Amino acid sequence: MSIQDRLLEVGTNAADWPGLANREQLIQRERYVARGVSSTVPIFATRGRGAHLEDVDGNVYLDFAAGIGTLAVGHCHPKVVTAVKAQVDNFLHTCFSVAMYPPYIDLARRLTNLVPGSAPKKALFLNSGAEAVENAVKIARAATGRSAVLAFQNSFHGRTLLTMSLTGKVHPYRDGFGPFAPEVFLAPYPYPYRYPGSTEACVDDALARLNHVFRTQVDPRQVAAMIVEPVQGEGGFIVPPPRFLLELRKLCNEHQILFVADEIQTGYGRTGKMFAIEHHGIEPDLLLVGKSIAAGLPLSGVIGRADVMDAPRPGSVGGTYSGNPVACAAALAVLDVFEEEQLLERARAIAQLARPRLEKMQKRFSCIGEVRGLGPMLAIELVKDPTTREPAPEWTTQVLRACHQHGLIILKSGLYDNVVRLHMPFVCTDEDVNQGLNILEHALETIEHTDH
Ligand SMILES: Cc1ncc(COP(=O)(O)O)c(C=O)c1O
Repeated sequence: MSIQDRLLEVGTNAADWPGLANREQLIQRERYVARGVSSTVPIFATRGRGAHLEDVDGNVYLDFAAGIGTLAVGHCHPKVVTAVKAQVDNFLHTCFSVAMYPPYIDLARRLTNLVPGSAPKKALFLNSGAEAVENAVKIARAATGRSAVLAFQNSFHGRTLLTMSLTGKVHPYRDGFGPFAPEVFLAPYPYPYRYPGSTEACVDDALARLNHVFRTQVDPRQVAAMIVEPVQGEGGFIVPPPRFLLELRKLCNEHQILFVADEIQTGYGRTGKMFAIEHHGIEPDLLLVGKSIAAGLPLSGVIGRADVMDAPRPGSVGGTYSGNPVACAAALAVLDVFEEEQLLERARAIAQLARPRLEKMQKRFSCIGEVRGLGPMLAIELVKDPTTREPAPEWTTQVLRACHQHGLIILKSGLYDNVVRLHMPFVCTDEDVNQGLNILEHALETIEHTDH
């Protein structure tokens, strides 16, 4: 059977999973790779196509993790592969700070046109999401002459010192890594499912506590930027009530704080629109992209108001590999694929198929406390008891393992590690979506049938 045919099937030898070749690699990994870099699934990939991934034992999986929401166009989209190969044949690297190349400019032009906002915009490319966040802070400080940065609890912005300081979750991101960067302040982010009152009260409370931060910890006139995920990703797909984001934009206007939308996870259709802030008509001063933009090649970007972006002096931002030409070529192909294959419409269709199925599962399984999300950025929060809402992190691990064993790669997230999240590639067929959700439903059955 050809690999193409094989990849159309999903399946593992569950009884023997993950198999001998994976086990052999695991032994080597344990011996030679630092344990701090953890891996969700104990498998080693050999080949990926579209929504499918094959491992060294020949197990084939539906990949609903998609490189943590990086493969909107799926594994090895032919257009991306062709563009990458063409660029590889020309040249691999010059460093944009030495000799420039057209793909960087083309990408900057296309992204500045895509990001919402009427003011003229400019772009800067980096390697990782964390680097985009770091650079946004540098740009905001240079533009405002202010030093403080405001971010939110339960957020995730990266693993470098500054981005870890901006991240609002202790385990595993911050624990043992202090002292943290100064001039960083974290305010509450509304989490309606875990708030004892109404959604409106939840927003009022979060805003009151943010104003309290301004009164007790930092003068808003010292704050350069407010960095916000429009939907918290690693935090468990928390969708804030729209009024919260609109009020943040107003506060930023009032105090001349730059509004920085971290769309590294939400970007490129993950919420059903190209960028999540488009749901609210918000114009950010800076918007951060990463993950999906280059279909797996390391690339991120800061896009924003030209007057703000031009604040740092020449030579003060960038890096050896930042905006690498191969990654830019992949990113241009990704934008073409989004247009040609109408992936935004497909993203919304996937959401329409998946959400009702998850809601049906919630009726069946009492361990699903909440189904939430925006567009196809969907998740279920698992609880031991729907009344007390006590988080069920162990059951979540159990569900994940059952999914992995039966051919679905899927991730968890959340403050309590009890949220199962879906990151389907938008090239998934309806059949893929249903098949993945069947595996998830089957995995949830194992929880319900266990005596707790
Ligand atoms: C919202 C958000 N910001 C920043 C990052 C950091 O990106 P990277 O891992 O590429 O540094 C992530 C990664 O998950 C993210 O979800």
